[in-house]
Amino acid sequence: MENGRYSDSLQGKRVVVTGGASGIGLATALRFALEGSIVTIFDYNKKALDRISTEHPSIHYGVFVDVSNPNEVKRAFHEVDHLMGGIDVLISNAGISVRNRFIDITPEQWRKVIGINLDGIFFTAQEAAKRMLQQEKGVILMTASTNGITGHPYYTDYNASKAGVNLLAKTMSLELAPSIRVNTVCPGYVLTDMQRAEYTPEMLERVNENIPLKRHADPSEIAAMYAFLASDEGAYITGQNIPIDGGELA
Ligand SMILES: NC(=O)c1ccc[n+]([C@@H]2O[C@H](COP(=O)([O-])OP(=O)(O)OC[C@H]3O[C@@H](n4cnc5c(N)ncnc54)[C@H](O)[C@@H]3O)[C@@H](O)[C@H]2O)c1
Repeated sequence: MENGRYSDSLQGKRVVVTGGASGIGLATALRFALEGSIVTIFDYNKKALDRISTEHPSIHYGVFVDVSNPNEVKRAFHEVDHLMGGIDVLISNAGISVRNRFIDITPEQWRKVIGINLDGIFFTAQEAAKRMLQQEKGVILMTASTNGITGHPYYTDYNASKAGVNLLAKTMSLELAPSIRVNTVCPGYVLTDMQRAEYTPEMLERVNENIPLKRHADPSEIAAMYAFLASDEGAYITGQNIPIDGGELA
């Protein structure tokens, strides 16, 4: 799908995208680069980071970091200070999902999913907010999910983490206003590696039948929402959990 350009207000903005080495994060990093922003991606997939540095030179920097580790996140933000001189926009997006029945989820799996999807967003958002409060300006956006709005079987831990992200953002938006805007985007089904790893082609087809628009989203469609929300065109939007789901929740 073609990316277009939104508004000049993203030009020169210093943007961090976590989980930027794949899927929604990569599409978002590329979109902000196209908008003229300076982009750093965070990821714990070293190989993918290396590949992106050669394949996508428009993405300025890649930082190797596990967002579920608060000390690593602090170190990564110091690196961001050094590389970009600060941060204007955070897209906290890194996440994992594991398909399992509620009754079979182990404490280890529970802690891993919550550790990346909820703790990781909290740690990165807090480090970004410290810097944005000093400059009295910034935008923090997070990838939640339609799974954080209604129940979906076999993803209890994931759904709980995403519901947590939705309320984390709403609460942060109240405490950090008026200088920092905070929103989540709640994608429905998006065709990325995460989805391909857990759904057979037959399962994907069955899912598509139940989506009013009859298809998965392309990652660039989620990226477009992030660009809009971070730009001046989204200047009055804060404290929202915004579904982008082809009509799924309707
Ligand atoms: N694909 C979907 O249908 C869908 C729907 C709703 C929400 N989401 C959410 O969108 C986000 C991105 O998912 P995606 O589909 O692009 O997946 P993806 O697997 O293609 O990309 C996720 C990226 O995050 C990175 N990552 C994972 N854990 C990390 C950690 N601890 N530290 C640093 N990096 C880490 C991975 O290495 C990968 O590059 C996730 O939060 C996911 O829950 C996806």
